[in-house]
Amino acid sequence: MTTYRIAPSILSADFARLGEEVRNVVAAGADMIHFDVMDNHYVPNLTIGPLVCEAIRPHVQVPIDVHLMVKPVDRIIPDFAKAGANIISFHPEGSEHIDRSLQLIRDHGCKAGLVFNPATPLHVLENVMDKLDLILLMSVNPGFGGQSFIPHTLKKIAAVRKMIDDSGRDIMLQVDGGVKVDNIREIAAAGADTFVAGSAIFGKPDYKGVIDAMRGELASVA
Ligand code: DX5
Ligand code: ZN
Repeated sequence: MTTYRIAPSILSADFARLGEEVRNVVAAGADMIHFDVMDNHYVPNLTIGPLVCEAIRPHVQVPIDVHLMVKPVDRIIPDFAKAGANIISFHPEGSEHIDRSLQLIRDHGCKAGLVFNPATPLHVLENVMDKLDLILLMSVNPGFGGQSFIPHTLKKIAAVRKMIDDSGRDIMLQVDGGVKVDNIREIAAAGADTFVAGSAIFGKPDYKGVIDAMRGELASVA
């Protein structure tokens, strides 16, 4: 039986009330908090950094899952670990030395992940499967919430699912971008187990209603 995890992205939360927002979404059933870090360089948007991670840390017990959309990544990794992050993932384009950056994350006591944009090939995975706790497939181009799920991601999910199963390793397969109640089932059926959802949850008044509806869909995956 697959363990499914729902990771609301605070990118769509009310930043003026972030402590309350993360407490509410965890009370509504979130398994982790997805924390989108954008640098106005690797992606054309600017969001939040380690200070905000540190500020929300006392408000929730669940893991904080930091998605770095920054370049370069190495200098900021220790800061997020110290700020209470539990999982840190980055895009291969953001690091000159992918193996070293993954090791740096683990050396700081966090789980390590690699993120692939819709058009980024997966070949680097072959060399780093033993260094990964999470693989994140972007189903939109990174930089903004509220975009539509790119359907060809489903094939990529299936390919990575096979790579993880063949490796025999315990690696989360996360999908990020355009995940909603009405498509989460097919994304899970393709092989994902961890679902980032920003606008689908924080864009609605009833967080528990959405998360329950997502879990209902996941319960019917064959
Ligand atoms: C996009 C971010 C996502 C974003 C998802 O660059 O990585 O985490 O918040 O937002 P939705 O769920 O609205 O597509
Ligand atoms: Zn993200």
